[in-house]
Amino acid sequence: MKEQSPAAAHMTLATVRGWVRDAGRIALLSGAGMSAESGVPTFRDAQTGLWARFRPEELATEDAFRANPATVWDWYAMRRDMVAKVAPNAGHAAVAAFQQRHPNRLTVITQNVDGLHQRAGSPGVLALHGSLLEDKWLDAPRPCCLSQPPLEGRPPRCAVCGNLRRPAVVWFGEMLPVDVLAAAEAAARACDLMLVVGTSGVVYPAAGLARSAAATARMVVVNPDASDLDDAAHAVLRGTAAALLPQLLQEDT
Ligand code: APR
Repeated sequence: MKEQSPAAAHMTLATVRGWVRDAGRIALLSGAGMSAESGVPTFRDAQTGLWARFRPEELATEDAFRANPATVWDWYAMRRDMVAKVAPNAGHAAVAAFQQRHPNRLTVITQNVDGLHQRAGSPGVLALHGSLLEDKWLDAPRPCCLSQPPLEGRPPRCAVCGNLRRPAVVWFGEMLPVDVLAAAEAAARACDLMLVVGTSGVVYPAAGLARSAAATARMVVVNPDASDLDDAAHAVLRGTAAALLPQLLQEDT
């Protein structure tokens, strides 16, 4: 982790609130920390109990799924159940409320697959890494796959050819959805201010969106701990998403 620059460290919440007020277009890039206060464990923290012996990198790949489809399916089912039991937090709510007050002014780009921005009411969320809540066909669907509902199972499968359903997330080694990434790049190019919330900033191309935005717009990191993007930020606010986003995005009085 890199140290934040001295200039960025001296920017205050009031200064960044002014930047929010002045910005015509805002992009918000979120990561796992955005959902921490909802009780969603980060990728690694999820590895408890039965799952403690697996590394996420050994489960979140196409090869792992093809080798052990039931195991990988069950891991995602566990995470899906966990997310269903939690709710968006005050950070998600502040973002969605701002978007409702200011249509088309703030675009959410998220690395999270938990659907919490969407459940809070954010429109048009650009989910770079897909969704835990949806499935898709493992291999390109044949006419038989599409002609009838899949057979229930772990995972469900086509009754005729055996093609499997898989979680609609981006696995390690896979491309991001081209249209979603293009829209995120466009939002990063168009914004005057990018808020980078709850991400370690080590996974690309997501982190690259923040770095490229910093060249043409103000870029602000919101994170209680040091992140890899601090060195590129114009301001670094040390605090949590649920505490700081309501203060940054609340209506001017
Ligand atoms: N508010 C804001 N930030 C927080 C909070 C909080 N309440 N709690 C933790 N954080 C910060 C941590 O300090 C850390 O920098 O959230 C960050 C979480 O980092 P990661 O776990 O690395 O998550 P993320 O950056 O989203 O990971 C990117 O990697 O594992 C893959 O595909 C997965 O989308 C994920 C990607």
